[in-house]
Amino acid sequence: MAIENYYLLSLLLVLSCTSSVLATAPNYDTALLNRSSFPAGFLFGTASAAYQYEGAANEDGRGPSIWDTYTHRYPGKIKDGSNGDVAIDAYHRYKEDVGIMKEMGLDAYRFSISWSRLLPKGKLGGGVNSEGIKYYNNLINELVAKGIQPFVTLFHWDLPQALEDEYGGFLSHKIVDDFRDYAELCYKNFGDRVKHWITLNEPWSYSNGGYTVGLLAPGRCSSWQQLNCTGGDSATEPYIVAHNQLLAHAAAVKMYKMKYQASQKGMIGITLVSHWFVPFSNAKHNKNAAKRALDFMFGWFMDPLIYGDYPHALRSLVGNRLPKFSEQEAKMVKGSIDFLGLNYYTANYAAYLPYSNAIPASYLTDARANLSTQRNGIPIGPKAASDWLYVYPRGFRDILLYTKRKYNNPLIYVTENGIDEYNNATLTLEEALIDNMRIDYYYRHLSFLEKAIKDGVNVKGYFAWSLLDNFEWSSGYTVRFGINYVDYKNGLKRYPKLSARWFKKFLKK
Ligand SMILES: *[C@@H]1O[C@H](CO)[C@@H](O)[C@H](O)[C@H]1NC(C)=O
Ligand SMILES: *[C@@H]1O[C@H](CO)[C@@H](O)[C@H](O)[C@H]1NC(C)=O
Ligand SMILES: *[C@@H]1O[C@H](CO)[C@@H](O)[C@H](O)[C@H]1NC(C)=O
Ligand SMILES: *[C@@H]1O[C@H](CO)[C@@H](O)[C@H](O)[C@H]1NC(C)=O
Repeated sequence: MAIENYYLLSLLLVLSCTSSVLATAPNYDTALLNRSSFPAGFLFGTASAAYQYEGAANEDGRGPSIWDTYTHRYPGKIKDGSNGDVAIDAYHRYKEDVGIMKEMGLDAYRFSISWSRLLPKGKLGGGVNSEGIKYYNNLINELVAKGIQPFVTLFHWDLPQALEDEYGGFLSHKIVDDFRDYAELCYKNFGDRVKHWITLNEPWSYSNGGYTVGLLAPGRCSSWQQLNCTGGDSATEPYIVAHNQLLAHAAAVKMYKMKYQASQKGMIGITLVSHWFVPFSNAKHNKNAAKRALDFMFGWFMDPLIYGDYPHALRSLVGNRLPKFSEQEAKMVKGSIDFLGLNYYTANYAAYLPYSNAIPASYLTDARANLSTQRNGIPIGPKAASDWLYVYPRGFRDILLYTKRKYNNPLIYVTENGIDEYNNATLTLEEALIDNMRIDYYYRHLSFLEKAIKDGVNVKGYFAWSLLDNFEWSSGYTVRFGINYVDYKNGLKRYPKLSARWFKKFLKK
């Protein structure tokens, strides 16, 4: 070893103790994995959502959404009692934030539109808020000017409160026409520049979080579950809400295909989330439990979208609590995606859960799967800040290969993937920017993604969650998912974490 190299090595070792040099850790090496490891034209982006980012909740004519109501009426349901009134103020700072994307070398940005910012009463008849149209025009124009492609989610959980009040939101079939009208308003105003539409974000989370366990707005569940909900029925409502989400999605897609796609030449899809499920043991009954768990989280939506009906496991285990598609509805839902948006974060063990008639029915137990994050005291992977997030990178490849095999190799954009750390008040700013666990997370997941693509999975883009720290639903601001840091104590100033610098190297052309 030449002396220069030795000197360099010791310098690197010193520096790596302060965690500021990444190239020393082989797992992070962008000489081994980088943009050029992926097919030509592959898009790298980051993702966000309106309620988590925008703030300006009462500005320029925006109407309230169920998240405004929920956070204000039940602050006890949010870990730090916070809300998205200000969030990270992306409404006013969109130019700066697009600048950060440009600086990092990103190709695309996934954001969502706040329905009640465009339609304060939820419906066309209640009036269109021109200030809302103006904001999204500004954001889209800024992105396009900087060469960043907009991927737009129409519904990321922030339902206009007016529709919740009038007919119970997604509990009612009436949502289908109102969502279709709202979607059309978006195609009309933004479709000349938006070429990728995502109708719904994670309908599973909206159904399960909002109607089975009551941890997301509107916070409903069965009272016997003792989860401190405000009403609801976990045996029926999650299924009704999922059903109406699928029908609303299909109606919005039909509208796009009938009136806009030929001239605007875009694509439309949906974003689903799924964990990967690892059988608790090799025993047949545990393997079957893992299959059922996947059907109840992913197949619940994927089977109707690809095959026109719910998975057999749901039909047999949920029985007459599961809504049915009419022949015409099934035809509309089947094949209604140009691409699948897939969110992957984590994996669970699944074990057989024996049926018990001693407890009332709930979506929670219908799959007859006992889900857990550890086995014999050993976690399935390192734990992140969020209680549900254990790092299991190989599950990313597993779910991608499963999707290819089971659902006829659809076009996929990975629309979310990421990890959080605690918002730790005792850290200095310099310390808080050191996020090596995030670089490690991205490196491992991107490695498995590359393998999946080599195995023939048709993935054309990848969006990291998230560009910036933001309002994390029931966790409020207690956790940080950002690649860039937001200083909540100092005017929401943005700073790159180490992972932002790593991404910049990874993305360099
Ligand atoms: C990017 O990765 C490839 C291997 O996939 C490697 O050959 C190339 O040198 C790397 N590029 C840079 C700039 O490190
Ligand atoms: C239940 O919810 C109410 C209303 O938000 C809150 O005041 C109370 O503290 C909660 N109780 C528990 C045990 O979480
Ligand atoms: C679920 O699995 C865990 C182990 O992961 C076990 O401790 C628990 O007893 C199981 N629960 C039921 C109801 O089987
Ligand atoms: C916060 O940071 C301090 C100092 O590094 C550390 O000791 C503590 O464990 C951290 N707390 C959490 C919740 O991560």
